[in-house]
Amino acid sequence: MKLTVVGGGSTYTPELIDGFARLRDTLPVEELVLVDPDAERLELVGGLARRIFARQGHGGRIVTTGELDRGVDGADAVLLQLRVGGQAAREQDETWPLECGCVGQETTGAGGLAKALRTVPVVLDIAERVRRVSPDAWIIDFTNPVGIVTRALLRAGHRTVGLCNVAIGLQRKFAGLLGAAPAEVHLDHVGLNHLTWETGVRLGGPEGENVLPRLLREHGDTIAADLRLPRPLLDRLGVVPSYYLRYYYAHDEVVRELRTKPSRAAEVAAMERELLRMYADPALDEKPALLARRGGAYYSEAAVDLAAALLGGAGSPYQVVNTYNAGTLPFLPDDAVIEVPAAVGTHGPSPLPVAPVDPLFAGLTANVTAYEDLALEAALHGGRERVFRALLAHPLIGQYAYADTLTDRLLAHNREHLAWA
Ligand code: G6P
Ligand code: MN
Repeated sequence: MKLTVVGGGSTYTPELIDGFARLRDTLPVEELVLVDPDAERLELVGGLARRIFARQGHGGRIVTTGELDRGVDGADAVLLQLRVGGQAAREQDETWPLECGCVGQETTGAGGLAKALRTVPVVLDIAERVRRVSPDAWIIDFTNPVGIVTRALLRAGHRTVGLCNVAIGLQRKFAGLLGAAPAEVHLDHVGLNHLTWETGVRLGGPEGENVLPRLLREHGDTIAADLRLPRPLLDRLGVVPSYYLRYYYAHDEVVRELRTKPSRAAEVAAMERELLRMYADPALDEKPALLARRGGAYYSEAAVDLAAALLGGAGSPYQVVNTYNAGTLPFLPDDAVIEVPAAVGTHGPSPLPVAPVDPLFAGLTANVTAYEDLALEAALHGGRERVFRALLAHPLIGQYAYADTLTDRLLAHNREHLAWA
């Protein structure tokens, strides 16, 4: 089996390699190709990747290359994990929206729109090249904003599934709290990427007993502290929102907080410098503990599971993925991309049926779906007015004066990345 990682020079990659090494019975990778335009990073990350494989006795070959076409040739699956403009562009996304009193965040709000505009054309171009060289390859998209990027890929007819680690992170967390094995814990996970709620936590599978009420009763304080939301709010909602919902439910509080500290991008950039320094050490042959301070926990396990299921191996039967709604949530268009548990096989994911969604969650989901649709229009066709329409539709923006100002800022900060601006 050949797997290719586009954006393989990411400092996150050792997390992925560690997963491939540990879980080689689930996903027997014979050749792993890391593709990245940054030769220096590629060499550092590739070196550590080879040492991790060697230490764990993995016989797979690790190849590094700057040439996309060569890298994806013959691949069974291609993982996309790139960041157009790097942490520098992210830093901007996290900063200028704050000047208008709006959250500055990688994937949420105006910053997330900027990221979508920069990213969609690049990813579509890569996917087109993958299709030309390896038409049967599955594309697993980790590239944010995952919902919008996956929708762009699916609409262009690519064999693609969007993936995020939020669900697997919660599954692992809840399993720990319940004293259960992770594979035993099934989440009733519903919404859009980075806009989800756990409406049930079941033991044994999708039909298992719902232990969410007990989980909230016994561990509500721990869960609330992790999310940095008040415990009574969780009790009133009766579900567990993802930590991205804090940007909605506590928007102004988050803005005040963000204004007083360095951006996450700056924090991450400092960590990346340190990580790359560590990766250069020939004695290092495992993922360093520092990597755990990044947001990517368990993303390798999610990737292994998904790739294994798509390629006919031993992946978990049900996985939380981003895919076409196709009637699963009746209040959304069929071609919306949703994040839900699905049965995954070699034909791709088939979402499991979802119980009726409380209007409290359905309303916001529908609103953000409309925003994502307009964001994709703006990313595909460009133009100031399309950017304005997406921002006006966003539930965290909504007023024309803000939308106009944010449009100007977004364009001013992203001209070098937008062919049409
Ligand atoms: C989680 C999210 C990712 C996001 C990451 C940010 O893993 O699911 O979509 O990119 O956190 O982590 P960072 O360490 O870059 O802030
Ligand atoms: Mn994510």
